[in-house]
Amino acid sequence: MKALSKGIIITLLASVVTWTMASDDVEAILQNSFVAKNQATMDRLERDAVQAACSAPRGMPLNNDMLTTLRQERLKAVVLPANSQYLGDWQRGSDVAGNGRGLQSSDDPSKPNGGNCYACHKLAPDEVAYGTLGPSLTGYGARGQSEAMLKYTWTKLWDTHVYNLCSHMPRFGAQGILTEQQLKDVMAYLLDPASPVNKAVE
Ligand code: HEC
Repeated sequence: MKALSKGIIITLLASVVTWTMASDDVEAILQNSFVAKNQATMDRLERDAVQAACSAPRGMPLNNDMLTTLRQERLKAVVLPANSQYLGDWQRGSDVAGNGRGLQSSDDPSKPNGGNCYACHKLAPDEVAYGTLGPSLTGYGARGQSEAMLKYTWTKLWDTHVYNLCSHMPRFGAQGILTEQQLKDVMAYLLDPASPVNKAVE
């Protein structure tokens, strides 16, 4: 029995050592394979606490208290719009949703960033080019415009990690990808009954 538990301990230690070495190697490979170009600088490789936690190798146990604390910190940092003015102009929002430019080394940093929502979501039903990494948002406006709904959608767009810590969706507000006005316009694109997102195809 003693030998067995000794064996288990040695195996566990060995896997921790292997994992540490592997993660150091990965770090070095990442640093060596990227070059800074224009606005895509090397600090892009620095992970914040959420990214570090979510990059843990598959199957590694994560500390639940740590995850709850991280989620609470993200929620506290969300900036809601003044006077509960959540909705802008859906037409401008449509441009933001369809624009995949911004933040890449080849993009002009003086131009506003896009939200690239169509890369991952279906939105207006007559748009045929869309990705399916995220759920379809067609008809999203049917959820109504209650304060809770507005706040949920804004928070999801501001920092998706509040609701789903390891989400693949960009943190549009928290990372300064979209401006407050652009976020309001996208909100209107999602929620305004006149927006194509909420119109059936004819
Ligand atoms: C890189 C992919 C990606 C991009 C780009 C992206 N999303 Fe998402 N989004 C997701 C994924 C994946 C989910 C579902 C999982 C989750 O909640 O994180 C999601 C969830 C959502 C939800 C919640 C859906 C629900 O049923 O409550 C909303 C709203 C949303 N996205 C809006 C947007 C908008 C608006 C944009 C553009 C400004 C956008 N997303 C850009 C991947 C993306």
